Amino acid sequence: MPVILGIESSCDETSAAISVNGTICSNIIANQTVHERFGGVVPELASRAHQQQIIPTVEQAIRDAKIHKNDIDAVAFTRGPGLLGSLLVGTSFAKAFALARNIPLIEVNHMQAHILAHFIEEPVPEFPFLCLTVSGGHTQLVLVKNHFEMDLLGQTLDDAAGEAFDKTAKILGLPYPGGPLIDLHAQQGNPNAFPFPEPQVPGLDFSFSGLKTAILYFVQQKQKEQADFLETHLDDVCASVQSRIVSILLNKLQRAAFETGVSHVAIAGGVSANSGLRNGVVALGKERGWQVFIPRFEYCTDNAAMIAIAGHYKYLLHEFVGQDVAPLARYTI
Ligand code: KG4
Ligand code: ZN
Repeated sequence: MPVILGIESSCDETSAAISVNGTICSNIIANQTVHERFGGVVPELASRAHQQQIIPTVEQAIRDAKIHKNDIDAVAFTRGPGLLGSLLVGTSFAKAFALARNIPLIEVNHMQAHILAHFIEEPVPEFPFLCLTVSGGHTQLVLVKNHFEMDLLGQTLDDAAGEAFDKTAKILGLPYPGGPLIDLHAQQGNPNAFPFPEPQVPGLDFSFSGLKTAILYFVQQKQKEQADFLETHLDDVCASVQSRIVSILLNKLQRAAFETGVSHVAIAGGVSANSGLRNGVVALGKERGWQVFIPRFEYCTDNAAMIAIAGHYKYLLHEFVGQDVAPLARYTI
């Protein structure tokens, strides 16, 4: 009945969670608001905020789970990918905690953990399943063969889907992170108002940088014609952008399902919180006869519950690491 402390610090969320025998008992997420006015995550500020938040966040996770720190059997932490200075805070904390308490240390790949978030709650997908993992830094199509054996079928050649949302939001004058705001405006707008181009990318890879440029030129041109274009058409622009990003993602997902013959299909990562993507994958699943898996909102964006769950499965496999482990800014699944 392992009790695992999970630590996540790869970007701008400091998070700690406790799992008891694979059940999440607490999941505390401290958001960093300091980045808002800069229009993106400032790595140096993120590391400092992690330093300030990590101890109170872990203490609260232990309190909320109603356990004592002596009960913890192992500590799992995000080793990468992510911002090195941010990862160093979680890694150093986890090492110190494991050393002081003389318990095993478990390293976790953040992108695998996003996928393993599907094992936090029932219903869990059956292996093999396809997962579209879409976050601020990554866009990946993954064939998940078991908890830690995953094949990367395709990925973005440039910007990630979350980046496409966030960069578009910046063009539209919305604050960071813009993804959730585009989602909100899109719900009031017409997705067919402005047909943005679909990039032609071979195979199962993605590209979003051309779309971003097309949106920038479109907005500049419209504003020349009508100075208050954005004020009067924001909902329609957001709905059209979201609809295009979602169609790019779903077309590749459909192709991957066709090519692999796999009909258990999941989405994961921050962008899987997007209502257009959630509704779109459910509708497509009905049409294609897929069994579709979508994580609860709090397990889509960065959280330590997914790290604790990944840690739980590694604990069962006795996959531990030594004190010489170092974080990795780049870390393939
Ligand atoms: O997985 P995540 O929390 O962090 C990374 O590992 O990157 O993903 C963050 C990304 C951001 O780009 C954010 O704008 C996007 O997920 N996001 C959304 C929504 N909620 C979060 N994008 C579109 N619609 C949403 N509702
Ligand atoms: Zn993430």
